[in-house]
Amino acid sequence: MACLLRWLGHGGWEIRTQNHTLLLDPFLDSAPSPPCKGADLNADFILVSHGHFDHIADVPAIAQRTSACVIACYEITEWLQAKHGLTNFVAMNIGGKALLPFGEVKMVPAWHSSQLPDGSYGGSPAGFVLTLQGNRYYFACDTAVFSDMSMLSVPGLHVAVLPIGDLFTMGPEDSIEALTLLKPKHVLPAHYNTWPPIAQDAAIWAEHVRKQTASQPHLLQLGESIEL
Ligand code: NI
Ligand code: MN
Repeated sequence: MACLLRWLGHGGWEIRTQNHTLLLDPFLDSAPSPPCKGADLNADFILVSHGHFDHIADVPAIAQRTSACVIACYEITEWLQAKHGLTNFVAMNIGGKALLPFGEVKMVPAWHSSQLPDGSYGGSPAGFVLTLQGNRYYFACDTAVFSDMSMLSVPGLHVAVLPIGDLFTMGPEDSIEALTLLKPKHVLPAHYNTWPPIAQDAAIWAEHVRKQTASQPHLLQLGESIEL
């Protein structure tokens, strides 16, 4: 069964299964051109990949308003509790998995950094493999390409969401390399065009994906959804 994936701009996603709504790295109220406000969103769960402001800035307000359960690495949950008074968490770390009401979440490595907005240590940056309604979805989040991505391709990825903005994460060329390791059926780009330094031509990227990989690229407008 398909899920509804809505690009919230930058690295942010709304993921709807049949019975649950998840947010991943929502970045809206301090983003330059968000498709909606944080206050417009509802969620049962919020996944946070790492501590950088462009991934965590909107999390406290949304979690406080919705009482959503925040899924993040241990150091980030400690910080959200101490600084923002949140109490509803699944604290994890790299390599761990949790069976939750919406499906399974596995926290996987990301080559990046993770400092929280006040300078606190944010633990290890992460990506997520979600098993939702029988399909595996890989959200690479902020990362370089790395050869261990090939391990995530077993037993087959339905969707991979990869950054293509370059500079702070992998760029378009390396995302093609990542696709040869991950072999997903579908691929969605993220973390680009938010600011001029990470501007990319996604149409050209999609052309390269079609020519050089077996994955099907899908380009979403800000705030647009796709059923996959
Ligand atoms: Ni980052
Ligand atoms: Mn980022």
